[in-house]
Parts: sequence; C-alpha cells; structure tokens
Amino acid sequence: MSYAKISQVAHYVPDQVVTNNDLAQIMDTSDEWISSRTGIKERHISHDQQTSALATEVAKKLLAQSSWQASDLDFILVATITPDSMMPSTAARVQANIGASHAFAFDVTAACSGFIFALSTAEKLILSGSCKRGLVIGAEVLSKVIDWQDRRTAVLFGDGAGGVLIEASDQKHFLIESLHTDGGRGQALTSSYQGLASPFSVEEDSHLSLEMDGRAVFDFAIRDVVATIKETLSEADLSAEELDYFLLHQANDRMLDKMARKLCVDREKLPANMMRYGNTSAASVPILLSECIAEGKITLGSGQKLVLAGFGGGLTWGILLLTI
Ligand code: ACO
Repeated sequence: MSYAKISQVAHYVPDQVVTNNDLAQIMDTSDEWISSRTGIKERHISHDQQTSALATEVAKKLLAQSSWQASDLDFILVATITPDSMMPSTAARVQANIGASHAFAFDVTAACSGFIFALSTAEKLILSGSCKRGLVIGAEVLSKVIDWQDRRTAVLFGDGAGGVLIEASDQKHFLIESLHTDGGRGQALTSSYQGLASPFSVEEDSHLSLEMDGRAVFDFAIRDVVATIKETLSEADLSAEELDYFLLHQANDRMLDKMARKLCVDREKLPANMMRYGNTSAASVPILLSECIAEGKITLGSGQKLVLAGFGGGLTWGILLLTI
C-alpha cells in the first residue's frame, strides 16, 4: 500500500503591488479602515497575466525544485474560481505550457476551499495506486472578477498562486480530513455567471462580479470552521496545543484572532500573510505554506503536525490534518 506526501511547495505572485493608499485614491476608503478591519495592507494585482500564467510559474518552480520532469507527472489539478476560460480548463493550459504529456488535468471549483478539496482528491488518486505523482495548484486572478466600484469587496482580494508536488510515499502523512459543503447558504458569496441569450429559454439574472455578505461569511468561519477543526482534532485524539501550526485561509486577521481564541491556542500557531497578499481564495493556503517553509517555520519531512483549512464560497469548508 502506498501513501501520499507533499514533496515540494512553491508560490508565485504578480509583480504589481497595490497598497491600501493606492485604493484610497480611486474609491472612498482608507488604509485605516482596511487594516483595522481586515489586517490587509497591500495585495499583488496582475497587470496582464491570466490565472494559467500564474499557475504555470508555480508548476515550473515545483518541477525545478524536484528531480522529476514534466513528462513524469500523472495529473495536474488546479483549484480556481477565476479560470482563463471554462474550456479548456486552467489545468489543461498548464499541462500544455509545461509539456506534461502524460498527465490528465482538470480544475476544481470550490472557492477558498478549492486547494484543500483538490489536495484531498490528489491524495486519493495516489492511494488508488493508479497515479504516482502530480501537481496541485491553487491560482486566482480575482482582480478580474471584482467590482472596482464596490469598496466592500474590492479592498479584500488579491491575485496569486501556490501549489505542491504530491507523490507516493511509504509513510502516512495525510491523517484525517473533513470536507463539507452547504449549498443552502451559497448566496452568501457569488461571482461570475452569464448565460447567453437563447430564443428557447427565459433570460436568467447574471451577476458577474464577486458579491459577498461579509458578516455572514465571517460568522460561518468562526462557528462552523472552528467546530470542524475541533471535531477533527478530537477524532485524531490530539489537543490543539499538540499541533505545530494551523494554516487557515487568509481572509481577515481579526477572524484568525477569534479562531485562535476559540481553539485555545497561541495566535503564533496561526501564521498570517494576508497583510501582503489580501485574500487570494484558492491560492491562500499554499502561498502561506510555501512562505512558512521559506521562513523555516515548517520543514518538509520533519513530522510536524499541521491543520490546513480552507473555507468560503459554496459554502464550502475543508480541513486536512497532516504530518508533514
Ligand atoms: N472602506 C471604508 N468603509 C467601508 C468599506 C471600505 N472598504 N467597506 C465597507 N465600509 C463601510 C460600510 O459601508 C459600513 O458603513 P455603514 O455602517 O455606514 O453602513 C461599515 O463600513 C461597516 O461595514 P461592514 O460590512 O459591516 O463591515 P465589517 O466589520 O463586517 O467588515 C469584512 C467587513 C471585512 C468584509 C468582514 O465582514 C469579513 O472579513 N468577512 C469575511 C470575509 C471572508 O472571510 N471571506 C472568505 C471567503 S471569500 C471566498 O470564498 C472567495
């Protein structure tokens, strides 16, 4: 029986940095409001790159860090809610860009939980024995779906990509997972859908830009996501203190303060980087993991225990308990 492990981690963000003060030049907001409510100070915004370009940079880094060639990959999964197009998928574009001739590729659409859902799927592909290695990438160009007239959402998001190389291992690294969707609460976060007019059907409402009931999403994260993390730890017979780090979706620093309090752990166990990237949806957890490794907080192969958690549109939420 073969298990799965994360063997490489990388991230990439576009060069252009937009600060809160830059935003205050074009809308009725301020650095004071944005930083005190969210912790965000700046974000990277793509000038001319689509999501597949960001994901391709991550894929190239992952391969360069490893001893594998693109042709050794069995699959490529890209989690995104901002695909270049619905067809071909962003994953198919990455597959072509890096020449991964033997890999099948598809996108996973689960908003800010997308990377977690995709990583869980990748683990199953490896556990099945049919695949030996693949890439799992979260990548977003959210700046393309934001209503730049709407200060309630425009200040929150940023563009970026992060990902992992996952491969077969003789040791168990993925300990417990807990994945959830509550479509009944889906209207709390919506974005980008437009059906074309047809002579045979009624025209549907289209809501192209991202819209969010911020308070409802905040409350959902504090209540449902924390409860699921606690259940997962209890199933593993671990206390929160026994975990090395909780790498949680980077939406709001105040939210992480509350989550740390409810989990009864030091806030240092919940690293944050949304101050530099904003909320990058499916990219946020892998970018954070990549930075924690670069900073030496987390070391692959060390046996540290981590919780990875994504939560957002769907509503979706997913927890992975790993020993890294
Ligand atoms: N600048 C200045 N004022 C603003 C801004 C802004 N950018 N945005 C809103 N305001 C004003 C509002 O108009 C309102 O004014 P009013 O009282 O005169 O009406 C006031 O500030 C308070 O607005 P709220 O929306 O109530 O602010 P709140 O404290 O709830 O903070 C926030 C909003 C930051 C969005 C918070 O609710 C939040 O972080 N929610 C969670 C978001 C999240 O987790 N998303 C994750 C999933 S994303 C995904 O899946 C893609």
